Amino acid sequence: MFRSLKLVLLATAALALVPVGEAAAATLTGAPPIVIGHRGASGYRPEHTLAAYELAIDMGADYIEPDVVSTKDGVLIARHENEISGTTDVSSRPEFADRYTTKIIDGAEVEGWFTEDFTLAEIKTLRAKERLPQLRSTAYDGLYEVPTLQEVIDLAKRKSAETGRTIGIYPETKHPTYFNSVGLSLEEPLVEILTANGYTDADDAVFIQSFEVANLQRLNTLTNVSLVQLFGGSGSQPYDFVVSGDSRTYGDLVTSTGLAGIAEYAQGIGPSKGLIIPSATVDRDGDGKADDLNGDGVISDADRPLKEPTTLIDDAHAAGLLVHAYTFRNEDFFLAPEYNGNPELEYEKFLKLGLDGLFSDFPDTAVAVRNRVAGNPNQAVPEPSSLAILGILPLAEILRRRQNQGGKKAKKAIASS
Ligand code: G3P
Ligand code: CA
Repeated sequence: MFRSLKLVLLATAALALVPVGEAAAATLTGAPPIVIGHRGASGYRPEHTLAAYELAIDMGADYIEPDVVSTKDGVLIARHENEISGTTDVSSRPEFADRYTTKIIDGAEVEGWFTEDFTLAEIKTLRAKERLPQLRSTAYDGLYEVPTLQEVIDLAKRKSAETGRTIGIYPETKHPTYFNSVGLSLEEPLVEILTANGYTDADDAVFIQSFEVANLQRLNTLTNVSLVQLFGGSGSQPYDFVVSGDSRTYGDLVTSTGLAGIAEYAQGIGPSKGLIIPSATVDRDGDGKADDLNGDGVISDADRPLKEPTTLIDDAHAAGLLVHAYTFRNEDFFLAPEYNGNPELEYEKFLKLGLDGLFSDFPDTAVAVRNRVAGNPNQAVPEPSSLAILGILPLAEILRRRQNQGGKKAKKAIASS
């Protein structure tokens, strides 16, 4: 099915999902927003492990997100970077000490150990560890392997069968220009794996995302699955633009002209939260440094007050593009001062703007708020009339549940939106 037609059909099918009497989120299709387990439930388990992905699914995530890099023998594995000392125990493994090196990755000098210098068999001897030990538990360090993309897909399919929900996958190609330059192109192996696993159409529960442009344009010629253009900071550039001499920045891509161009090869955009609701750095004393507004001795998102929302969601919707924003996290460190340490307020604020999906390290919180604000696409609810007869529910709640029952029937459509 053509991907634009898919959106039209979803919009039509989802009209009945909008709750009556509530602040309905005006998503592109009208379907409830999707929750994407960002690197799994990475707030609770080391990121990009099967344990993290499975927990995300158990918490109700609609999609799980593997970032994808390549091994020396061309196997796609789930890691956020090809340099793996921050998320594995490689630096403490004497047998790999001689693999330590320095490379230029996307124009930046990076030291460490790199996936493209290890075979899959060698990668499998490593164990994952927590990226943010200052904020998150390290109790699970040393327990889990680095999974292959195929293992992530196997998990999604097994859990789909077990739960009756369609668990989607949301792979991101990491450093595609770099991997292409070392003879380990990501695009063909990714499409090969997806095709072998039955992910071939726009209706299938998969999105491919990338911060680069050329690789998405190439993927658009290789597969019909849905594609999402990620955005970095407004002043920065997709790395393939740097290499090709294209002077455009992400700031240019978020304009109406830029979005129209993206709509020619992608079905959605993945902006950072700050491109939707910007935040301010406060420097009252003019010393050139951000003020520590909450006085905790650390400059964090908790010291950056929110500004007015931009028009990005509306602009993207006008171009026919879904908007899936990253990254929602529960810790105070990542929450603007207006939220007073309550991550639910952040979800609510974004969902009410019409966001179509969000990447969360804490899918339990994300799903709870999504279900409350926009309806639960996966959960069966009791027959309202029987509850009415029993006098258990007031009329308004009965009507709300009747509206939301359409969500169960539409769950596959939502998972593939
Ligand atoms: O893919 C959405 C989001 O994950 C992009 O940021 O750096 O976490 O991959 P990153
Ligand atoms: Ca990612």
